[in-house]
Amino acid sequence: MMYKFSDKGAILVTGASGGIGAATVRQLCSAGGNVIASGQNTDQLHKLAKETGCATLPFDLASEEGVREAIEGLDVWGVVNCGGFGGEIATPMDTDIDIFDKVISINARGALLVTKYATQSMIRLGKGGAIVNVSSQAALVALKGHISYGSSKAALDNITRVSALELGKYGIRVNSVNPTVVMTEMSAFYWGRPDIGEPFLDQMPLGRWATEDEIAAPIVFLLSDAASMITGVCLPVDGGFTAC
Ligand SMILES: NC(=O)c1ccc[n+]([C@@H]2O[C@H](COP(=O)([O-])OP(=O)(O)OC[C@H]3O[C@@H](n4cnc5c(N)ncnc54)[C@H](OP(=O)(O)O)[C@@H]3O)[C@@H](O)[C@H]2O)c1
Repeated sequence: MMYKFSDKGAILVTGASGGIGAATVRQLCSAGGNVIASGQNTDQLHKLAKETGCATLPFDLASEEGVREAIEGLDVWGVVNCGGFGGEIATPMDTDIDIFDKVISINARGALLVTKYATQSMIRLGKGGAIVNVSSQAALVALKGHISYGSSKAALDNITRVSALELGKYGIRVNSVNPTVVMTEMSAFYWGRPDIGEPFLDQMPLGRWATEDEIAAPIVFLLSDAASMITGVCLPVDGGFTAC
């Protein structure tokens, strides 16, 4: 099925200056989407805008004022909450609680703030809509070293479910994708280590890392009318890792 977004309103994609977010913007623009790309790195956003024709809207997910100023009153039909921060590799015994706070403030609180201000417009416009949150396999199973990141993405999955419950009556669907590792800047320093990466891949049925496009594709599917009866799900995109 070819997806069509040309008859929808604008779709805001956070994290668009990064790997998965930029791949999502490219796929949405190819399907006729009117995309607003967000992040903090304006050079990256401008490059993407030149390539795809998307609009840009930089803001800091950690600042409620910044999110409110950027989004309040902005007409949007869809949102991809893809902005995220990897934080630290640490156990509950040695976590740096300031890093824990920062990870939560970007990955969970930031996505909730975007949802809060974007849905005000979506409800006002009365045309329904769709939100996809980019979570992680780390929200579904315990992964060593992932106390802060896994907790932030588990919180995001709960934001997905409660938002689906509250927004269904407005025709707004809310879902998550829960990807395995993609070798972007965020993950390479840890998962790129042979002592960490090889035993992990041995346990995964498909036995390889995901590509950015393999995560963007289910995001686009969940945004599209092809998923019109799907809301409140957390979809593993993990080569089967969390199924085994
Ligand atoms: N890579 C993986 O293995 C993997 C696996 C599962 C889930 N994910 C999730 O996928 C999403 C995208 O990750 P990626 O791999 O594409 O990583 P990435 O290339 O490092 O991109 C991260 C994005 O988040 C943005 N961001 C970070 N802090 C921000 C802040 N305070 N305010 C606004 N934007 C902020 C970055 O923007 P600036 O650089 O402009 O600040 C960038 O656009 C994240 O939510 C991540 O947790 C990634």
